[in-house]
Amino acid sequence: MAISTTPLIHLSSVTKEYPLGNTTVHALRGVDLTVSKGDFMSIVGPSGSGKTTLLNIIGCIDQATSGSVVIDGQEITTMNDKQITDLRLYKIGFIFQTFNLIPVLNVIENVEFPLLLMKTFSKTEVRSRAERLIEAVGLSEHSQHRPAELSGGQRQRVAIARALVTQPAIILADEPTANLDSETGNQILELMRDLNQKEHTTFIFSTHDHNVLAYAKKIVKIKDGLITE
Ligand SMILES: Nc1ncnc2c1ncn2[C@@H]1O[C@H](COP(=O)(O)OP(=O)(O)OP(=O)(O)O)[C@@H](O)[C@H]1O
Ligand SMILES: [Mg+2]
Repeated sequence: MAISTTPLIHLSSVTKEYPLGNTTVHALRGVDLTVSKGDFMSIVGPSGSGKTTLLNIIGCIDQATSGSVVIDGQEITTMNDKQITDLRLYKIGFIFQTFNLIPVLNVIENVEFPLLLMKTFSKTEVRSRAERLIEAVGLSEHSQHRPAELSGGQRQRVAIARALVTQPAIILADEPTANLDSETGNQILELMRDLNQKEHTTFIFSTHDHNVLAYAKKIVKIKDGLITE
């Protein structure tokens, strides 16, 4: 059986420094990380250890200070803005801790949004793709509701549908269950695990919740900006 050996994501010696007044915060101090296609990986570490920073760099929301970041064979640290925007739009779905839904749009419009940015699909195609995802996350009855009319768990499901609608190879989720009660959190994790198994979507999610760790197939520990195991 042929096994692809090229990793989907490869970071080497990645550092991130933030200037803070007269000092510098060393948020990442030389991170090496390899993620393979189909991984269901959890990044765990205490508050301030660098989890969000790491996910933001992989998700091209933030840039590394030094080091190399290769996604699907492409070195992103040398890409221009247009290339970065395309990479984010076509290959990566991001689920934020605080959902980041657009308040004036209803559920289906929020989910359609990235597809409209892609400009590759007809209106009917956009609508039917969004409807399929909303059904998958169990929100069909709420598709006309705005985020403010939904519970935290429902909002997170909208965010997941929006991250998945473009069928990205990679989903990055920053503490996807942090704002949810444990039962809703488990439902969200089961949904993510289902998608990982059925669609082979690669997931990387950060957490400091031990309940979440039970779901992970791989666990990466981070402390003070360094991966410890
Ligand atoms: N924009 C910024 N400016 C200055 N320092 C920052 C900035 N963003 C993060 N930091 C610092 O970088 C370090 C890593 O932060 P990061 O948000 O990645 O941690 P985290 O592991 O996600 O923490 P949490 O579990 O609390 O979300 C922290 O010391 C933080 O204070
Ligand atoms: Mg964080």
